[in-house]
Amino acid sequence: MLSQLDQIQSEGLAALATIHDEAALENFRVAVLGKKGSLTSIAAGMRNVPPDQKAVVGAKLNEVRTALTQGIEQIQLALQVAKDAESVKGLDITLPGRPSPSGALHPLTRIRDKAIQTLRRLGFALADGPEIETEWHCFDALNTPADHPARNEKDTFYLPDGRLLRTHTSSVQVRTMETVKSLPVRIIAPGAAYRRDEIDATHLSVFNQLEGLYVDKNVSLADLKGTLEYFFQEMFGEKTQVRFRPHFFPFTEPSFEIDVKLEVKGQADKWIEIAGCGMVDPAVFTAISQSRGDQVFDPNEVTGFAFGLGLDRLAMILHGITDIRHLIENDVRFLAQF
Ligand code: DAH
Repeated sequence: MLSQLDQIQSEGLAALATIHDEAALENFRVAVLGKKGSLTSIAAGMRNVPPDQKAVVGAKLNEVRTALTQGIEQIQLALQVAKDAESVKGLDITLPGRPSPSGALHPLTRIRDKAIQTLRRLGFALADGPEIETEWHCFDALNTPADHPARNEKDTFYLPDGRLLRTHTSSVQVRTMETVKSLPVRIIAPGAAYRRDEIDATHLSVFNQLEGLYVDKNVSLADLKGTLEYFFQEMFGEKTQVRFRPHFFPFTEPSFEIDVKLEVKGQADKWIEIAGCGMVDPAVFTAISQSRGDQVFDPNEVTGFAFGLGLDRLAMILHGITDIRHLIENDVRFLAQF
C-alpha cells in the first residue's frame, strides 16, 4: 500500500505539471481526491491494514494527500495570476488618474442661505407667494397709486388677463398679512422678481430679492434699525457701518434706503446702497383690514417695519462681480471660482 501511495503521489504531481486550465485541474482533483478518486479509494483500504502498520500507512496517506492538495492549490493560484494579468493587459497604471471635480453652491445660493440663517435666528420665518401676481397684491394693497411709474407697461410684464409678473417680493407682505390668524407677523421671503429692464451689466429682467416684514403692537423704528444693523453686520462683518438715508416708498412711512460702508474688492471703503426699508404705511394696514374683514391689522393698533434687498447685488458686492449676467450664464470658468 505504501508503494501504491508513492506511485499516486509521483504520478499525480507529474500530471499536475502538465495542467494549464481550470477545467483540467478540476477533473484532476475529482479523479484523485473526489469521492471515487484514486486516493480516496486507497484510503478506504486502511481498514485492512494490520494494526502495527496503521500509523505508518496513515502518516503516508496524509503526506500524499497534503502534497497533492498543495500541488492543486499552487496550480490554481498560478492560473488566477495568469488570468488577472490577462485582464489588465494594455493597462498603464503609471498614467495619471482622471480628476473628479467637486461642485459647490452658486454664490447667489450661498448669500441667500446666509441671509435666511441670520434672520431666522432673529425669529423670522420663511414665507412665499406666487410670482404671477394680481395688481392688487403687487401695487394697490401696497399703497401704490394707479399712475405710479412702476405700474407702467413699459416697466412691468403684464399677462393678457391683467395679472403680472411681480416686480418685487413686497407682494408677499400682502399675501402673508391676508392669511395669518394672529400677530405677530415676522417673515422673510426670498424670491424672484421681474422687470422689463434693458439687460446690461447691472440689470436682468429676472432678479432676486429678499423681503422682510415684522408687524405687532409697538414695533418701532428702533426695532427696525437694531434688526437691520445686526443683520448687515452678520452678513459683512462686525465692523460694518450701516446708514439709513431718508427716501420714499409708497408702502412705508417713513422710508429709508440703507447704505453699508464696505470694502469692495480692490477698492477703498465706500458707502453702497443695499436695501430699502421703512415703517409700514397705515394705508397698507387699512387695505389689508378691508380685504380680511377683521381688525387684526387695525392701523390704530399695530405698527410694523418692512425691508427689501437685492440678493444679486449683494452677491456681486461681496465677491467683486462686475457683471450681473455672470450669475446666470453658468460658465464654469466663473462658477469654479467659488
Ligand atoms: N420693494 C422695493 C423695491 O423693489 C424694496 C423695498 C423697499 C421693500 C422698502 C420694502 C421696503 O419692504 O420697506 O425696490
